[in-house]
Amino acid sequence: DPSKRKTVPDAYVEEERIKGGDGARWENDQLSEAIFHFGAKDRHDRNDDFALLLDEEIDFVQATALAGTEEKPVEVTAAERKKMSIEETRKSLPVYKFRKEFIEAVREHQVLIIVGETGSGKTTQLPQYLYEAGFADGGKRIGCTQPRRVAAMSVAARVADEMGTKLGGQVGYSIRFEDCTSDRTVLKYMTDGMLLREFLNEPDLASYSVMMIDEAHERTLHTDVLFGLVKDIARFRKDLKLLISSATLDADKFSKFFDDAPTFKIPGRRFPVDIFYTKAPEADYLDAAVVSVLQIHLTQPLPGDILVFLTGQEEIETVQEALIEKTKALATKIKELIILPVYANLPSDMQSKIFDPTPPNARKVVLATNIAETSVTIDGINYVIDPGFCKQNSFDARSGVEHLHVVTISKAAADQRAGRAGRTGPGKCFRLYTAWAYKHELEDQPIPEIQRVNLGNVVLLLKSLGIHDIVHFDFLDPPPQETLVIALEQLYALGALNHKGELTKLGRRMAEFPCDPQMSKMILASEKYQCSEEIITICAMMACNAAVFYRPKAMVIHADAARKSFWGAPIVGDHMALLNVYNKWKETNYSQQWCLENYIQHRTMKRARDIRDQLEGLLERVEIEPKSSTDSTTVRKAITAGYFFNCSKLDSAGHYKTVKNKHTVHIHPNSCLLEEMPRWLVYYELVFTSKEYMREVCEIESKWLLEVAPHYYKGQELEDPTNKKMPKQKGKSARELTGE
Ligand code: CDP
Ligand code: MG
Repeated sequence: DPSKRKTVPDAYVEEERIKGGDGARWENDQLSEAIFHFGAKDRHDRNDDFALLLDEEIDFVQATALAGTEEKPVEVTAAERKKMSIEETRKSLPVYKFRKEFIEAVREHQVLIIVGETGSGKTTQLPQYLYEAGFADGGKRIGCTQPRRVAAMSVAARVADEMGTKLGGQVGYSIRFEDCTSDRTVLKYMTDGMLLREFLNEPDLASYSVMMIDEAHERTLHTDVLFGLVKDIARFRKDLKLLISSATLDADKFSKFFDDAPTFKIPGRRFPVDIFYTKAPEADYLDAAVVSVLQIHLTQPLPGDILVFLTGQEEIETVQEALIEKTKALATKIKELIILPVYANLPSDMQSKIFDPTPPNARKVVLATNIAETSVTIDGINYVIDPGFCKQNSFDARSGVEHLHVVTISKAAADQRAGRAGRTGPGKCFRLYTAWAYKHELEDQPIPEIQRVNLGNVVLLLKSLGIHDIVHFDFLDPPPQETLVIALEQLYALGALNHKGELTKLGRRMAEFPCDPQMSKMILASEKYQCSEEIITICAMMACNAAVFYRPKAMVIHADAARKSFWGAPIVGDHMALLNVYNKWKETNYSQQWCLENYIQHRTMKRARDIRDQLEGLLERVEIEPKSSTDSTTVRKAITAGYFFNCSKLDSAGHYKTVKNKHTVHIHPNSCLLEEMPRWLVYYELVFTSKEYMREVCEIESKWLLEVAPHYYKGQELEDPTNKKMPKQKGKSARELTGE
């Protein structure tokens, strides 16, 4: 009933001032023909440098603009900002003026929805205001969740800086496999996934006085589950304050969900942003991005940094290389272009560089994933290049296959991206797609993650928290019924749930590990196969989720030879190869020099070692004594015990098909088994690029499937118990040779 809805006193709602951020407006469908020529009227007018650099050029058409706010933000150049003290910077943020009202609102209401544009100071300032107002007195903590690791780390570092303390002291962060907090920590930033795990140890979040669920608009799976959990505990913990903060203006949905909680709006301030579209669709958006960066750099005045949105590390590296290549030849003739990548797995020392002010006479180009859309704010950006894509995982409930796809972004995301150009001055956003595509091909809003991913993880966690009736859990948007059913079935097949859907002892132990159910199961199975030392090494190597090997262009032959030296004999799979890498590294006493000689990323290895140490601690917690095995069969059986869903078989035509759903898949070109082509495989995950690729594959014998998952596989499904390899002989057909 909307009439019962609580309203917040006018004192701290300045709704009429919020004009920016409401999306691109379509004045009319008649596109203006004003082609944006980057200042140079004609190709032939240009000097030689320009022609040398740019043999092609992209024509953009201006069609729309994001309106700015009436109150213009103060224009602060990078140099001026550098001179500003931390205190002055804090005071310059939009949220500063409303700090008193904010604290009053928190005192008055248990749940508050906070809305304010990205960069207004929600994440860094609000927890500090609460701290200053005494909300952390009496040994309580103020928590703040972030959907992304990088954001949790960088924000905590920033806040520690602002408070003049060391990171990990009063201000700390906690992300998976990395806890940078101490007993003294009162402001704790963490990923949403970590807070979910904290519920296992502290179901009522007793140590917190305030919990801020930040970036709520991102609607990540973990944030969505947190909504239901925190709403529940707020009912019996009247002293717990909840803040749900979001960068988008449609907070009504959050307000309704939290029993009509009032909304606290922080008026945003933004300069107008002109939006340009390509005149025609671009076939290669990476190439188009490179060209656009150079076009801007060569024609647009300084200062004014560029932000490019790409889908992942690989794309970022490709564009980075191309830019270095293209600017190298003219290094002395053009202004310096500082190229800075930002993505989730980037080492933290390199991440912090993006916040450094750009030196005069240079331009910064930040190549970022959609982490820079809302969770991280970079000052000084005047140009945004938006190819219109992001990486998204999705789960096909029918085939049970989980994918990482590159998909087109939503209109809401496109407008968020554009808005990043107008923070420190009027901006320009170049969309590498047509105005028609924006209007007709982009969805209005992104689909919440909970409605498109595998829920095994979350269901196991909820069961461990004693929530049995998952179907009726209080979801903001419920997941599809069939996805829930599949999750329950998979957990049953893994042995985590019994036939009544209750958590088993195995399931309880599995939930102790901050891993997917399959990986957790593999770890627990290593007890039986007496190879937990090897298995946690493999887990650690896979969990660091970053490239282990590097392949410099000039040294490809050497790098590939080094990589092959870890494949072992016989070659049985990528898991074993990763294990070999780790063990050899350990033999050298974790030497950096050795990594260098073998084209291995030392940083990735160090992280793997950290993760491994933590997994070792968790083994102790579930009372598994670490044992080591030199027999690859037992290790591979343990892998199979976790990953038996991900099983594929080579058919008579020489194609891999998943065993359960007969889905065609391919061995990833980087795999050591690419040429081996064993008959039976389990894989770690499927990635979809040009084809459906299995990443990290492991050769198995079909009879192991019956041993590790007798309730899941029937003998006749595995009708080829001979387990022969595909013969590579010519002449005879594969069919004759395998007898199929
Ligand atoms: O959360 P919200 O988007 O509202 O803003 P914020 O993340 O609190 O950022 C406020 C200001 O702090 C921005 O101007 C950022 O540039 C700055 N900041 C920073 O300098 N370094 C960080 N690691 C995070 C924020
Ligand atoms: Mg924020």
